[in-house]
Amino acid sequence: MRGKRILTGVATVLAICVATTVAWAGEVEVLHWWTSGGEAAAVQQLQKMLNTEGHTWKDFAVAGGAGANAMTALKSRAVSGNPPTAAQVKGPQIQEWADLGVLTNLDDVAKAETWEKLVPEVVADIMKADGKWVAVPVNVHRINWMWCNPMVFQKAGAIYPQTWDEFFAACEKIQKAGLIPVAFGGQPWQEATAWESIVSGVGGPEFYKQTMIQADEKALASPKMVEVFEIFRKIKKYTDRNAPGRDWNLATAMVIRGEAGMQFMGDWAKGEFTAAGKVPGQDYDALTVPGTADAFLFNVDSFIMFEVKDADAKKAQKAMARLILSPDFQVVFNVNKGSIPVRSGISEDPFDAVAVKSMADFMATAKSGGLMPSMAHEMAVSPAVRGAMFDVVTNFYNSDMSPQDAARKLAAAVKEAKM
Ligand code: GAL
Repeated sequence: MRGKRILTGVATVLAICVATTVAWAGEVEVLHWWTSGGEAAAVQQLQKMLNTEGHTWKDFAVAGGAGANAMTALKSRAVSGNPPTAAQVKGPQIQEWADLGVLTNLDDVAKAETWEKLVPEVVADIMKADGKWVAVPVNVHRINWMWCNPMVFQKAGAIYPQTWDEFFAACEKIQKAGLIPVAFGGQPWQEATAWESIVSGVGGPEFYKQTMIQADEKALASPKMVEVFEIFRKIKKYTDRNAPGRDWNLATAMVIRGEAGMQFMGDWAKGEFTAAGKVPGQDYDALTVPGTADAFLFNVDSFIMFEVKDADAKKAQKAMARLILSPDFQVVFNVNKGSIPVRSGISEDPFDAVAVKSMADFMATAKSGGLMPSMAHEMAVSPAVRGAMFDVVTNFYNSDMSPQDAARKLAAAVKEAKM
C-alpha cells in the first residue's frame, strides 16, 4: 500500500515536471552582432539565464561592428516573412519596425516588472511606439572615451592628454618612440564614432546638439565644423598603414598588447580588456576624449521582439524581455560588455572604476545638459541623415578633400537627406 502511494507520488511529480517543461520550454531565435570576445561573453549570459528557465536559444549572430550587416540580414528574413523571435535594433529604427505592425507589445511585461519606474525617461521614450513598449533596453554605452596603454606613454615619455594640443604632443612622442600613437579601424562607423567625439570635444554640448541632433545646416557648414575636420585629418597622420578596414576589436588588441598608445572607441572596448584579464588603472586607462569631460554621448542597446504565434515561443519571448531588465542580468551582462546598467538602483560594487565613473558622469551630465545621444550609434537622427553624415565623413577621411569642402558638403548632404 505504502509503496503504491510513493509511486503515485512520483508519478504526480513527474507529471507536474513534464507539464511545466511543456508549458515553459520555448525557443527564442535571437539576431545580434555581438561576436568579439567581450561581446560574446556578455551575450552568453542571456543565453545561460534563458536556459536555466528551460528555454532554448537559437543563435543568429551576424558579425560586423555597429550592426550594419546584422540589419541587412534582418531585413531579408523579415521580407521573406520569417523574422527571428528577437533582434538587436536601436534608436529610431525601433519606430520604423513598429510602424510595420510586426512587433510584440511588451506592455504586460513592462507593467508586471514596473519598467516605468526603473528605466530613465530618455531611454523609455526610445523603446516605445505610440506609448507602448515594443523594445527592451539592455545597457548604456558611452562613446567619448579614449583607451590608453600606460606603458606606451611611459616608454615614449608622454603624458595623458586633456586638450587637443596635449593630444598631438603625446602622438608625436609615441611616434618618435617607434610605436603607433592611435590604433584605428578604417570602417565608416568607426570613423564616425571618432568624428562625433571630436565634434563634441571641439564644439562643446551646444554645438554637438545643433549639428548631431538638430542637424542644423548653418552649424554643419560653420568654421567650427571646419576645425573638427582639421583635427580629424591630423589624427590620421598618427594611425598605421594597416588601419583601413580593420575591425574595432583588432584595434583594441593593439592597445592591449602595447603596440599602440590610444584608441577612440565606445566602452564596448572595455569588454575586450576585461576578456583579456586586464584591469583599469593598472594595465590600461580610460580618458574622456579631449574637451569632452562634461559630455556623455550615450548609446543604448536594445532588443525588439517580433510577433510569434506559437504559445511556448511567446512565453520564451516574454521571459527574455523580463530577464534583460532583471537585476542579476544587468550586473553580469554589463560587467562583461563594458557598459553600465540601464536599470536604476543597481549597486556599483560589482563594477570596475571606469564603469563607476561612467555611472557618476551619466547622472551629472543628465543634470548639466551634457548627456547627449550618439549620432554614429543611431540614437540621434534619422537613418537617412545619419547615412548622409557617414558618407561625407568617410569620403573626407579617405581622400584629400579640404576641411572647408567637407563642412560645405556635409551641410548640403544633410539638407538633401532631410527632404
Ligand atoms: C555598437 C553597439 C555596441 C557594440 C558596438 C560594436 O553599435 O551598440 O553594443 O557592440 O556596436 O559592435
